[in-house]
Amino acid sequence: MGAAARLSAPRALVLWAALGAAARIGPAPDPDDWWSYKDNLQGNFVPGPPFWGLVNAAWSLCAVGKRQSPVDVELKRVLYDPFLPPLRLSTGGEKLRGTLYNTGRHVSFLPAPRPVVNVSGGPLLYSHRLSELRLLFGARDGAGSEHQINHEGFSAEVQLIHFNQELYGNLSAAARGPNGVAILSLFVNVRRGRAAGWRGEGGPGARLTRGAPTQVAGSSNPFLSRLLNRDTITRISYKNDAYFLQDLSLELLFPESFGFITYQGSLSTPPCSETVTWILIDRALNITSLQMHSLRLLSQNPPSQIFQSLSGNGRPLQPLAHRALRGNRDPRHPERRCRGPNYRLHVDGAPLGR
Ligand SMILES: *[C@@H]1O[C@H](CO)[C@@H](O)[C@H](O)[C@H]1NC(C)=O
Ligand SMILES: *[C@@H]1O[C@H](CO)[C@@H](O)[C@H](O)[C@H]1NC(C)=O
Ligand SMILES: *[C@@H]1O[C@H](CO)[C@@H](O)[C@H](O)[C@H]1NC(C)=O
Repeated sequence: MGAAARLSAPRALVLWAALGAAARIGPAPDPDDWWSYKDNLQGNFVPGPPFWGLVNAAWSLCAVGKRQSPVDVELKRVLYDPFLPPLRLSTGGEKLRGTLYNTGRHVSFLPAPRPVVNVSGGPLLYSHRLSELRLLFGARDGAGSEHQINHEGFSAEVQLIHFNQELYGNLSAAARGPNGVAILSLFVNVRRGRAAGWRGEGGPGARLTRGAPTQVAGSSNPFLSRLLNRDTITRISYKNDAYFLQDLSLELLFPESFGFITYQGSLSTPPCSETVTWILIDRALNITSLQMHSLRLLSQNPPSQIFQSLSGNGRPLQPLAHRALRGNRDPRHPERRCRGPNYRLHVDGAPLGR
């Protein structure tokens, strides 16, 4: 009974009881954490996406919201906005450090409190502070991203989740307020055959990527290679595993030149708050099939429980309705689309001034 009383939403109780929890009294679900991407985990019911908005009153937007994410972006619907400034990243000239973490739902990189990393520019009128880098991926290539472009998915999506640091003190407060959150998404393709960077530090590929200011076309993204090299990714094989990383250059995550598409949406996890400015980078990154494979070997569960791959950790597409999609590239001049300072990430405080 104590277990049941902890559920704040009465509907959660009803559903929980109705769906068999009564037959198998397990550990009490934490109502704020009682959701999953797949309806069934471990034989206990854990609500998947269609149920998120029904099991917790605080998550009702997941069911009734009309500005939800992710969405399918039809490029012919993107409105060109010549007044969008370039994206700006500020790290105070310092390297990034933080914890790589298997949350049981995502591969998550949580930056240390210092240095503060913030992004501005593009559609953002405020400076937003990086709170989490999240990696979503699929069980097969070409599926795994949450957003799609022209009805096609990508093998993975990297989401940089930021909160408005000028108006709010933390992400949970920002998610509830206007202009609270900015999420930058980068899509990832798997390229077969090129293993450069796979072994990361210490490996023969390391010298190729380290020190190179930009990535070599076709080879693996140098930032993702730091996270996905075998020595690192195998430290977070199971839920709650964490591994400290330092000396990272976030700017190496971005392609040398790119455009972006922006729209107003929501968090793609409960509570689905409709306070997110999404910025989708329109040039996909590459990783190798070995790196992708190492992601699929991560488990949603602790080692004592059955192996279930983390893959497939995305919310299904939500209707765009008549929301605007704005882009910074001019469809009438495709040859200009990736040239000039508007199509580069501006890095404040970086010695190379990339
Ligand atoms: C971004 O963060 C840096 C600290 O890294 C800070 O000095 C700077 O003022 C911030 N930028 C904005 C626009 O708030
Ligand atoms: C976030 O900020 C709000 C209001 O500023 C505060 O009440 C809350 O305790 C903070 N939450 C965390 C996790 O720090
Ligand atoms: C990814 O690989 C393709 C094919 O090799 C290449 O054209 C593209 O430029 C690469 N992307 C990046 C961001 O390097």
